[in-house]
Amino acid sequence: MKKIKISPSILSADFGQLGNEIKRLEEGGADMIHVDVMDGHFVPNLTMGAPIIRALRQYTRLPFDVHLMISPVHKYIQDYSDAGADIITIHPEATKDLKNSIQHIKSLNKKVGVSLNPKTKINLVTDLLNEIDLVLIMSVNPGFGGQKFMPKVLDKIKELKKIKNQKNLEFDIEIDGGINFDNSKLAIEAGANILVSGTTVFKNNNGNIKKNIDLLKSS
Ligand code: DX5
Ligand code: ZN
Repeated sequence: MKKIKISPSILSADFGQLGNEIKRLEEGGADMIHVDVMDGHFVPNLTMGAPIIRALRQYTRLPFDVHLMISPVHKYIQDYSDAGADIITIHPEATKDLKNSIQHIKSLNKKVGVSLNPKTKINLVTDLLNEIDLVLIMSVNPGFGGQKFMPKVLDKIKELKKIKNQKNLEFDIEIDGGINFDNSKLAIEAGANILVSGTTVFKNNNGNIKKNIDLLKSS
């Protein structure tokens, strides 16, 4: 079984001191840094873009796990690559040609992720699984941190895990949205090996990041 990794979302960090917050995550044992990029169009919220990622790059050597919730996404991929993203995750609904956008990310030598909203079916990516490094299963409708986990998506993770085993593929299964100390265990049992977490990592136990990451990992 793959080691469980934690990718804390800086959406729940103090935006006034993001550099410091990223250092705290690294010290607390984060495996990567999840950056939620929202455009106020593909999702009803607007967060941060490539210049901020570029400015944050100096604060850590951990991989930047960049979740692009922007549409149309294709023409911006290069910017995020140049800014220092290590994993670039896109939503199928945000591009005219998913295959082409995947190839574009690969050509920039970045890891490719595809994200599936709670209502998006797996069959949109089934034929592309050998091309991608990561499938990001949304367990909330994207747009905001602090939402309630949707247990229904666990079935999707199980199905994906089954296909992965059958085809002997290597991609990661990441889950994003409403992850807490109770449902993390269910997500891992279903087949997820990377947990994204904003609220739980930053706000629980009086903001003791290390403790929260350890608790999520040991679920
Ligand atoms: C939602 C984002 C998530 C979110 C996670 O659109 O993609 O990454 O910030 O935050 P929590 O853990 O608070 O749900
Ligand atoms: Zn995210």
